[in-house]
Amino acid sequence: MTEIPASIEPSLSALRAAFPARFEAAPTEQALRDENAKILGKKGELTAILSQMRTVPPEARKAIGEQVNALKQAVEAAFEARLRSLARAKREQDLSAPPFDLTLPGRPPAPAGHPHPISIVRDEIVDVLVSLGFAVHDGPEVELEENNFTKLGFPPDHPATDMQDSFWVDVAGAPPGERRTLLRTHTSNVQIRAMTTHAPPMAFIAPGPTYRRDDDATHSPMFHQIECFLIDRHVTMANLKGVLAEFAERFFGAGTPVRLRPSYFPFVEPGAEVDVGCPFCKQPNGTRAGCSVCKRTGWIEILGCGMIHPVVFESCGIDPEQWTGFAFGMGIERVAMVRYGIPDLRLLFENDPRFLAQF
Ligand code: DAH
Repeated sequence: MTEIPASIEPSLSALRAAFPARFEAAPTEQALRDENAKILGKKGELTAILSQMRTVPPEARKAIGEQVNALKQAVEAAFEARLRSLARAKREQDLSAPPFDLTLPGRPPAPAGHPHPISIVRDEIVDVLVSLGFAVHDGPEVELEENNFTKLGFPPDHPATDMQDSFWVDVAGAPPGERRTLLRTHTSNVQIRAMTTHAPPMAFIAPGPTYRRDDDATHSPMFHQIECFLIDRHVTMANLKGVLAEFAERFFGAGTPVRLRPSYFPFVEPGAEVDVGCPFCKQPNGTRAGCSVCKRTGWIEILGCGMIHPVVFESCGIDPEQWTGFAFGMGIERVAMVRYGIPDLRLLFENDPRFLAQF
């Protein structure tokens, strides 16, 4: 037999002897591929041996070449075989793993949110008044002084127009001192908005945010009101009281009494404040015992009302000899506090989930 380079023969037999065990020892597909690359890869051991073929004398080349090829095929076959056996083992393991238990209870979904108590109460008030025939009228929160105060009969020096009470807004480009603008202090501005754009008769409600410079346990600088007004021929205080009584029945429950106390608002005459029988100390016989919520009086104030003042009609171009109307304005937070027995207004604005989850 012809001489061949001393290094090739031993390397070949060493590799031939070692590769099956090396493949068997690879625990994962990746480890197996790494091992395979160490042998057959660009810098692999068998590749290195192949590159030495040049140095083999031509007469020995055929024999050595056959050996190298045979080894290469053996390595490839062993690699494929081990690959299959690893895949089989993995499949075996998956199949024999404890099965999914389809009878286990599902994971509860994250708790669903719900409307804020102010929105809940607003929607309920709106539902009751819409069921009585009122339509919802929108109005701006940034309002002209004339719609918020002047046309409602507020005298120019009324304390409510003070810097202390209202949030005045600078409108870019507005002539100084003219058509002043503020965040509306009540929803009564919508009376003016409606009366200057609609011909009577009309019956509207207007819920929404209102703003005043106030901040304590019973006042917030931003709060909500709902305005309600009806304009027609021959409207009387009896119509007003009828709507209020029906509202109290439907919103606070059957048998809830209403009382009107004379009061003053510039845009109504006569004007009144309205109390409802306290829902918290109502006795089985219908009387009220008095409790901490109603300050032992059995009554809770919820709104201001009255017959629309002729001055308001005139400022909107409506003839007060022909048209009459009533109006009332209710504090939504106030009604929510009464409804749910909430002791501090600020709870409604802090949005503590432990508080909100109770509604
Ligand atoms: N706008 C009044 C306020 O915010 C509430 C009010 C009183 C509204 C009498 C009315 C009304 O419509 O007739 O204090």
